[in-house]
Amino acid sequence: MYILPFFEFFPLVGIFFNFIEKNSRMLKEVKVNELEVTVENLSFLDVFQIQKYLDDLEIAQRAFGVSQISNQLLENISKLKKSIMFNRSNFKAIKYNRKTVGFIQIFYEDYDKIKIGIVIGEKKYWGRNIGTIALKKFINQLFSSDQKLKTIYLDTANFNTNARRCFEKVGFKIYNEQNGKVFMFLDRDSFVAG
Ligand SMILES: CC(C)(COP(=O)(O)OP(=O)(O)OC[C@H]1O[C@@H](n2cnc3c(N)ncnc32)[C@H](O)[C@@H]1OP(=O)(O)O)[C@@H](O)C(=O)NCCC(=O)NCCS
Repeated sequence: MYILPFFEFFPLVGIFFNFIEKNSRMLKEVKVNELEVTVENLSFLDVFQIQKYLDDLEIAQRAFGVSQISNQLLENISKLKKSIMFNRSNFKAIKYNRKTVGFIQIFYEDYDKIKIGIVIGEKKYWGRNIGTIALKKFINQLFSSDQKLKTIYLDTANFNTNARRCFEKVGFKIYNEQNGKVFMFLDRDSFVAG
């Protein structure tokens, strides 16, 4: 059997790792098809799935818009987990190819105002347009099922550039920036027009 000498084998290792890196980068760059993403009511099993996402502190920090891990953050995670369990109707599951990959939370602020939050809990899918498609579909559902609803709000941390980019793609505009957070809104008229 012919065995490659080390000096011949070494460049092959480099080519192999280059190939792997290039492919994983390409996978990140591939945007998903709109038809593959749905927003649905939360099933009982989804509750446990999305609670698990919050055990990842990087996800939780981004979801709550904080750069430090603190007792306050841990308390907020625990409250949110309870809320998912007991107020299931305030959450929607984001599905990609019928598998749950994240969730949207809804807060009713007034009869014509709603605040929302979003998490894609499967990190390998970040940057592939799932958040944008899910938000567009969900907001479309919200505006068509409730004619009184005028404005949707959300906020995110300044450092969360992909969240901000995602929200801008949906049509959200910034109305305030304070304490490391960006506050954004989307009007019914601009969403329909956009
Ligand atoms: C924020 C979040 C919901 C966005 O969903 P998403 O599916 O990743 O968003 P999209 O792919 O639709 O848009 C993200 C955009 O940011 C860009 N981006 C910038 N930096 C990025 C990064 N580090 N990782 C991924 N995308 C990044 C993407 O390329 C994409 O823009 P493009 O379409 O012009 O290429 C998702 O990333 C997430 O759940 N993150 C963790 C929790 C969180 O931050 N929630 C929001 C709290 S307000």
